[in-house]
Amino acid sequence: MNFFRRSSHQCVRSLAPNMSKICRRWNSSKCDTKGGKGGKADLRSVLAEKIKSEQERLKKFVKEHGNTKLGEVKISQIYGGMRGIPALLCETSLLDPNEGIRFRGFSIPECQKQMPKAECGDEPLPEGIFWLLLTGNIPTAEQTKMVTDEWNAKAALPDYVKKMLDNLPKDLHPMSQFSMAVTSLNKDSKFLKAYHSGVKRAEFWKYSLEDGITLLAKLPNIAARIYRNIYRDGKGCDEIDKKLDWSANYGRMLGFDDPFFFELLRLYLFLHSDHDSGNVSSHTTHLVASALSDPFLAYGAGLSGLAGPLHGLANQEVLDWIGKMQKELGSKNPPEDKVKEYVQKTLKSGHVIPGYGHAVLRKTDPRYMALQAFGERYLPKYETYLLVKTIYKVVPPILKSMQKIKNPWANVDAHSGVLLRYYGLKEMEYYTVLFGISRAIGVLSSITWHRALQIPIERPKSFTSDALMKFVKGKSGSKSKCDDKGDKK
Ligand SMILES: CC(C)(COP(=O)(O)OP(=O)(O)OC[C@H]1O[C@@H](n2cnc3c(N)ncnc32)[C@H](O)[C@@H]1OP(=O)(O)O)[C@@H](O)C(=O)NCCC(=O)NCCS
Repeated sequence: MNFFRRSSHQCVRSLAPNMSKICRRWNSSKCDTKGGKGGKADLRSVLAEKIKSEQERLKKFVKEHGNTKLGEVKISQIYGGMRGIPALLCETSLLDPNEGIRFRGFSIPECQKQMPKAECGDEPLPEGIFWLLLTGNIPTAEQTKMVTDEWNAKAALPDYVKKMLDNLPKDLHPMSQFSMAVTSLNKDSKFLKAYHSGVKRAEFWKYSLEDGITLLAKLPNIAARIYRNIYRDGKGCDEIDKKLDWSANYGRMLGFDDPFFFELLRLYLFLHSDHDSGNVSSHTTHLVASALSDPFLAYGAGLSGLAGPLHGLANQEVLDWIGKMQKELGSKNPPEDKVKEYVQKTLKSGHVIPGYGHAVLRKTDPRYMALQAFGERYLPKYETYLLVKTIYKVVPPILKSMQKIKNPWANVDAHSGVLLRYYGLKEMEYYTVLFGISRAIGVLSSITWHRALQIPIERPKSFTSDALMKFVKGKSGSKSKCDDKGDKK
């Protein structure tokens, strides 16, 4: 019986004093596999089967429909960040502007309902999400545990990575440290070795998968070490507890022991895992991987994109903005009218409202809603949480009144920071690292698929403005006026 169903809040609370036993048991009754070789088949064999059938299905699809047009490209899109140009393949998730993300067809609430959980929790285990994104099937609890066991077994860091991290200056941004450590792990890349030893292209995905698994296994260890070095004088535990899941181990290595915090980490690491492949971190990873760089190098590049304030760094900026508002207004939970004035002042000073707007979404981000539900359940009276709720009420009407803004609604970053802060993870500049750990699940799954489908190197066409102008002028004439002949680099 899943005792958590009765009242997860009480259940976790009552278990809290007995931390060593928490999260060690797995709910084996809840989830049924939806495909593959049944509940006990391992990831590699389920995936190999799926890849084989997909290769055939997609080959036929491209043969039959390869000339079907999906749309046209307008000049304004070239100058407008390529918004809306249908040009990328992403097998792992699909983003609908009005509905939000679906992971292999499953919405966030569906994942929350159907995915395996730690017995002490109600949120999907990110290990299971990795399985889902790779195979398209919801794993059984047993299969999810296989992933956890493998990640736990491979979690240790090589000494050179530890030494490098321990010697970095404390004021080097955690994201710079994170991408350096990830990149440096390519020393032992199985893909790199296989490539240089002449392994056939059709087999590349297998070695990329191995690198992806190795990297995911080590990410919490890297991230926790960075945290301890910067904020805890290097002190704390760096040993994996093999009975704990990935998120609980990460929380423990960060120095926390609250099971509610572990539960928040599971939710956070699940929610940020994938958001189709047009976002900066996913697209960068794909682009770099398409040159057959190994997964460590490709994801290191993706992390650099994630560190931008318009992308992953926004969660840090949200809390910073909220903190400044609280200070200036002299209250942790200021009244609505004062919040409104502060929002207007921010806009007047030429800044964006962090955590609001989105390049694709046109509704409130369902990831925001999932985090809000968590807040409502576990910290409904926390003052900064109440302020986040007031902001959610106040900001959209103001942004709506500014015609240029296409989406006035909250995105995930508007809510994640306040929850982390509540549990004591207060170091804002570290927040994007958590995002980075999670995003690895999606993009590393995608690298495996792109290699399995042998998607070639990405090389879209670019133009100079003069070439575009010539093209427009000569539109009735020769179309080839903006071709850069011989440009194949
Ligand atoms: C996410 C974001 C980068 C999307 O950008 P976009 O696709 O260009 O969005 P839009 O097409 O709606 O932007 C049109 C205009 O509205 C502005 N705008 C968009 N969101 C805004 C916000 N939250 N506050 C103020 N202005 C905003 C843009 O800066 C742009 O202004 P400009 O034409 O003067 O350059 C943008 O909404 C933003 O900067 N949000 C805040 C940062 C954030 O939360 N990032 C995390 C995203 S998950």
